[in-house]
Amino acid sequence: MDNRKFTLAGVMGMPITQSRSPILHNYWIAKYGLRGAYGHFPVEAQNLEAAIRGLSALGLAGCNVTQPHKVEALKLMDVVDPLAQRMGAINCVVVQPDGSLHGFNHDGYGYIQSLKDANPDWRADAGPIVVLGAGGASRAVVLSLIDQGATEIRLVNRTLDKAQALAAGYEHIVKVVSWAERNNAMEGCALFVNTTNQGMYGQPPIDVSLDALPTTAMVSDAIYIPLETPLLETARLRGNKTANGLGMLLNQARPAFKAWFGVMPEITDELKQAVLATF
Ligand code: ATR
Repeated sequence: MDNRKFTLAGVMGMPITQSRSPILHNYWIAKYGLRGAYGHFPVEAQNLEAAIRGLSALGLAGCNVTQPHKVEALKLMDVVDPLAQRMGAINCVVVQPDGSLHGFNHDGYGYIQSLKDANPDWRADAGPIVVLGAGGASRAVVLSLIDQGATEIRLVNRTLDKAQALAAGYEHIVKVVSWAERNNAMEGCALFVNTTNQGMYGQPPIDVSLDALPTTAMVSDAIYIPLETPLLETARLRGNKTANGLGMLLNQARPAFKAWFGVMPEITDELKQAVLATF
């Protein structure tokens, strides 16, 4: 082993300073006694290609990719993991020893793990699932739920044709529901997921009513700023189990860290506290 090796990685996006990813990765670097660092890379869309190409030129181990680059960055990869290809987006680049760039998407893995952490008995086939939103986050969530064995996903989006495009090829599982019907779609469902940006810091709460949602259903939100969105607060107060977006963030980071730093890191209470201390 080369003791002089210093491994560098980071997260590329715009805006990016709100991202808590450096806290996670730098915590793990210290915890496992590694030499390295993980930073914020503020990259505008017009500089994405140069920034991605620069990863191997600078000898970085790789990077995470976040809004608004997840789709465009995929096109710059030399090899795209089949799951990321199906999702049409990447959130992780791993620079290979020969300098080539491999793209992965760990968002779906992170999402499913976050549900299992919140409820170890969770099963994708426990009943109908309602997914709100049809953007990049939704694509990762919907495909991972299908892969986990979901039997019925009611996909609701303000813009109907985006939901139809996401459902294409999966119509036997994914049923597109109009925005006007979103509240009725919750009847009898076992899981309700928000993947839109509504309820995020600076945005109004998502415009839904949970009246038709069984109290036995789990409610999850891909958002982690704030940790408890108005949707999750309403769900918790009426007795639903909830899962916030922090679990997704923490869990998607594990396989990325393993790929760059060689250790599969653990999510500990101390790590959660370190992240929570920044809110
Ligand atoms: P991400 O990658 O985080 O999913 P995105 O691809 O921009 O981001 O998707 C944002 C999602 O939030 C979309 O489903 C969007 O709905 P549209 O497809 O109709 O744009 C949804 N969204 C944004 N603002 C919304 C609003 N005011 N009401 C309902 N949905 C909204």
